[in-house]
Amino acid sequence: MDVFGALSGDTKDPSSSGRDFDRQFQALVPSGASKGDYEAIELRDDNKDVYGGKGVETAVHNVENVLGPALIKAKLDVATDLKKIDALLREVDGSKDKSKLGANAILGISMACARAGAAARGVPLYEFLREESGSKKPYVMPVPFFNVLNGGVHSGNTMAFQECMIAPVGARSMAHAVQMGSEVYQELKKVLTKAFGPTATGIGDEGGFAPPISQPHEALDLLVTAVENCGYTGRIKFAIDPASSEFYRGGEYDLGFKGKTSEKYTGEKLGDLYRQLLDRYPIILLEDPYAQDDWPSWTAFNKTCPVELVGDDLLATNVDRIEEAEEKTACNSLLLKINQIGTITEALSAAKMAYELGWSVFVSHRSGETTDDFIADLTVGLRTGHLKSGSPCRGERVAKYNRLMDIEDEIKASGAEVMYAGVELRTIHSA
Ligand code: PGA
Ligand code: ZN
Repeated sequence: MDVFGALSGDTKDPSSSGRDFDRQFQALVPSGASKGDYEAIELRDDNKDVYGGKGVETAVHNVENVLGPALIKAKLDVATDLKKIDALLREVDGSKDKSKLGANAILGISMACARAGAAARGVPLYEFLREESGSKKPYVMPVPFFNVLNGGVHSGNTMAFQECMIAPVGARSMAHAVQMGSEVYQELKKVLTKAFGPTATGIGDEGGFAPPISQPHEALDLLVTAVENCGYTGRIKFAIDPASSEFYRGGEYDLGFKGKTSEKYTGEKLGDLYRQLLDRYPIILLEDPYAQDDWPSWTAFNKTCPVELVGDDLLATNVDRIEEAEEKTACNSLLLKINQIGTITEALSAAKMAYELGWSVFVSHRSGETTDDFIADLTVGLRTGHLKSGSPCRGERVAKYNRLMDIEDEIKASGAEVMYAGVELRTIHSA
């Protein structure tokens, strides 16, 4: 999926301002295996003979022959006009969901223009994005949520829940958080080898292990052991993304959807399971516990939910969906995926709206990621306090963590204030 999803948004000489621009700015666009129904549309070629119909020749054509020329003709300035650039891209596409020219075509250009804009202003990308978001607050390094056990449609085991994450809230810094996460990941490998043999350490789409387990408590018990063996109990918390839209069938949730026998749960019964898990394990965040159209279950669960309740497929980084969720008191946190909406400006607007509602914002990669590290700068620029980018394993996941450690070093070296979000990860954006 990485290769199929990658699209170079090359904006050579994007400025009309007379500045000396001979640099090229590129961007890679990701894709997801568990896409939601309300996401902007990623254009794939219909030609089944090439890449099994997953090619992006049409999207590339649209960049080169439609969007690119329109942008050059408009003579906008990347240093100051990102909003206008993104508005123009949307206008040229003309559809509500970017299905005409492709959200993948549009986003590549939007990201590359943000990079060009940062260069034109002479600031790092995270600073450019902070300025675009209208903030002047000090930088905050996010708590990285490492998805170390993969299930759902991201792996070949029979675990219904897609992601089990560890979050080093007790680290001293970004670099320390990466160290703690990596140590637990390597320890988990040993624990799995001991419990199931070496074949259990194969990995899923996001670099987490995919052992032969099916129940969430089995996964969480393994995490407890690995964290304990590393001496990090209390300093590393957990998070779950069941990605439940994937196993919602006819009004019920089938936790056996990957096995031979179904395990049907009503929304209420699934709520009981979540509450048991929250009681038993140090879970601080729950994402997409219910399906994207199951509003009543979201609202009912949110009434007594003691942890961060994140909408991914539910919200699709879309302000209309965020508004609807607020009306229905469905959740209290936005998962921010730039390719769900298709321009950087709209992603910033979604984050702004979430903050205004008193929610938190959790920046996310995709299962079909690329080595592009844009979201590392985005999470610092928006002061989101946390992000998820998979395991400390595989280049496309590690690229973001490496970039975050570089950013931390760079800010420190500049003498500017930088803190690690730690246990304040949900609220630090407003501090
Ligand atoms: P996806 O998974 O990229 O396959 O959608 C990530 C998530 O559900 O958070
Ligand atoms: Zn999700």
